[in-house]
Amino acid sequence: MKIAQNISLKPYNTFGIDCNAKRFIQVTSLFELQELLKTEKDLFLLSGGSNMLLTKDIEQELVVQLNIKGISIDRENEQNVHLTVNAGENWHDFVLWCIEQNYGGLENLSLIPGFVGTCPIQNIGAYGVEVKDRITRVETVEIASGKRVYFSNEECEFGYRNSVFKNALKGRYIITAVTFELSKNKHQLHTKYGAINEELKRKNIEVPTIKDISDAVIAIRQSKLPDPSEIGNSGSFFKNPVISTTHFQELQNEFPEIPSYPISDTEVKVPAGWLIEQAGFKGKRFGACGVHHKQALVLVNYGNATGKEVFALAQEIKKAIKNKFSIALEIEVNII
Ligand code: EPU
Repeated sequence: MKIAQNISLKPYNTFGIDCNAKRFIQVTSLFELQELLKTEKDLFLLSGGSNMLLTKDIEQELVVQLNIKGISIDRENEQNVHLTVNAGENWHDFVLWCIEQNYGGLENLSLIPGFVGTCPIQNIGAYGVEVKDRITRVETVEIASGKRVYFSNEECEFGYRNSVFKNALKGRYIITAVTFELSKNKHQLHTKYGAINEELKRKNIEVPTIKDISDAVIAIRQSKLPDPSEIGNSGSFFKNPVISTTHFQELQNEFPEIPSYPISDTEVKVPAGWLIEQAGFKGKRFGACGVHHKQALVLVNYGNATGKEVFALAQEIKKAIKNKFSIALEIEVNII
């Protein structure tokens, strides 16, 4: 294990922001991580770098990239399998591997960038499925003690793009592995999401397999979300806001076509992408960054944008949405 000096973090974040890490190390096993924690406590954890916006160099903390690989089967029966997957596995490769084995449950989460270790932190979700539905346990190492600590699904306190690791326990534990329970037959398919349905119909698939669903999700994502290897981005930059039904009704009077998803009798979720498009930002470029032309919820780096520029654009968008709709958008990516 060797600490490197002055490393550009550009290849390590999907936004492609060029910030410097004064000290940088890659860790490839739990043992290495525990050894490191004996002498280093002030850490900046880096995983797939797919949900962050770097706005400054990392001068003080040691940047640690968790590259612990490996998938193991804990137990299985006729119906289910319990898999423990180390934090450094690439998420989408893992999903494809599951589909090859005919393990169902994660197919709707195909093509999400990032590593397995960070999927619980923001409870990744897409097309009607959240990863919390399949997680049974999260393995961590406590930074203060170097000890292994396990969290049950309940203890993770999952919510919409949220978990205890983003809140009360932020910065205290390093996720080293995640255990999933997946189905081996009689898969519960989630095809309700409109775009999936349309894609399956277009291909004349009436009885879809998990592979069909994964293929449909991949096609949908490729058609509207920019590929981070081609154009820097961090997926949805903002959360979809939840507003009161009264507020929603007021907005509906003014904007009859506003889309919405009911949350409860008193709350409604509104797609931030729609709000941002209505505010006129979709496809607009501001210097080296901008708002994606096919999905307004995604901010993009055309090459040499700084994190500060992207952040300034996000503030402009927030201001405009506040003025037009009286809605306070919340940023979803981690601002560093
Ligand atoms: N919309 C617009 N204009 C846009 C974008 C969207 O009008 O530019 C409208 C669409 O027409 C649709 C609605 O907004 O009526 C929702 O759009 P979409 O289905 O694309 O989903 P989203 O709400 O924008 C969320 C997740 C995505 C996830 C998709 C599919 C959040 C913050 N984002 O986006 O997750 O892939 O649903 O389930 O919840 C991510 O978190 O990085 C991410 C990509």
